[in-house]
Amino acid sequence: MHHKIGILTGGGDCAGLNSAIKWVVKTALDPYLSRNGDMTLEVVGIRDGWKGLVEVDPSDPTSLARWTQPLDELIVRTWDRYGGTNLGTSRTNPFNPKDDKSAKCLANIEGLGLTSIVAIGGEDTLSVAHKLYNLGQKVVGIPKTIDRDLNVTDYTLGYDTALNVITEEVDRLRTTAGSHNRIFVVEVMGRHAGWLALEGGQAAGAHIILIPEHDFDTAKVAELLQKRRAAGVRYDVVVVSEGAKARGGEEVYLSDKTDGFGHKVLGGIGNALAKDLERLTGFETRHVVLSHIQRGGSPTSRDRLMGRYFGIAAVDLILEEDFGRMVAYRNGEITSVALKQAIERLFLVDIDRYYDTERYNGRRSSLSSYLKV
Ligand code: F6P
Repeated sequence: MHHKIGILTGGGDCAGLNSAIKWVVKTALDPYLSRNGDMTLEVVGIRDGWKGLVEVDPSDPTSLARWTQPLDELIVRTWDRYGGTNLGTSRTNPFNPKDDKSAKCLANIEGLGLTSIVAIGGEDTLSVAHKLYNLGQKVVGIPKTIDRDLNVTDYTLGYDTALNVITEEVDRLRTTAGSHNRIFVVEVMGRHAGWLALEGGQAAGAHIILIPEHDFDTAKVAELLQKRRAAGVRYDVVVVSEGAKARGGEEVYLSDKTDGFGHKVLGGIGNALAKDLERLTGFETRHVVLSHIQRGGSPTSRDRLMGRYFGIAAVDLILEEDFGRMVAYRNGEITSVALKQAIERLFLVDIDRYYDTERYNGRRSSLSSYLKV
């Protein structure tokens, strides 16, 4: 039997994707792993996520060169050290109700002769993977998102690198904030889930952390900051998720444009909050938006390792013919879960267990299995 594996990355890029691609390729093409009888494997990279599978014309060599890339060990040898995705990505949704391209996508999978697909992505990319699986395609998923909001996995690629960026950047702000007696509001990513703000904020020693799962009272935030100053501190750091909102207010968007999955681009809560806090406290307040810096840079050792483990497991699923599944990390072990389960709900911060709604920070009771990673 000959396996021709197509591999793609979809949605927002992040650190760790290239490691996963490398290890799918290395595992699939490993000459030392014993395979059944006459089994042979080949891996083809699809460029720009689902867009590549929609746009490619398998009968046209120029189109094939634009949208696909045959991968071998030599090509991917150094990829795990680099951030982003060397295959490119997009937020294309072949099942977009406004412009359904799923028939083309299915025809192209056949035209390319792909016997299975590895889709590396978050809830949007994996929801497409799940739909294709329901239409008879042999798909496996690998979880990635710096938001770490996918269900039934304790890790998603990119999260650890993003946490480290937040920690480093807040450390830099600390000295200038202290020198000037300022409040710094640091806006971090996290569309629906506050994990990045909560764990990044705690790692960085932020004084106030505001997350999408709990609407905040701006007057109360100002009061907490004033109390700190009254106690003698010189500066304050507030970490806020881009998806957080004030009680009775709305989420703040950069624009009203939506992507193929119906999402608008969040951004601006840091600026709005900084203005409100300066007005309410009387302390000079600045804001910083960490934005895509959180998705950039070389992957931490954790993201390289998890990319490796997830990539190897994805090939295992293919060889076991166990499709419609996502590789996952649960309770300290690499495993797999049904794609359906991974996308049926988001993994959000459980306020009662992890968040102190009085201090607007992590809870100070620790024997309730707080840190999952
Ligand atoms: O899904 C990951 C993420 O980084 C979110 O935190 C953020 O809201 C979104 O992607 C931003 O996406 P884009 O780079 O397409 O604007």
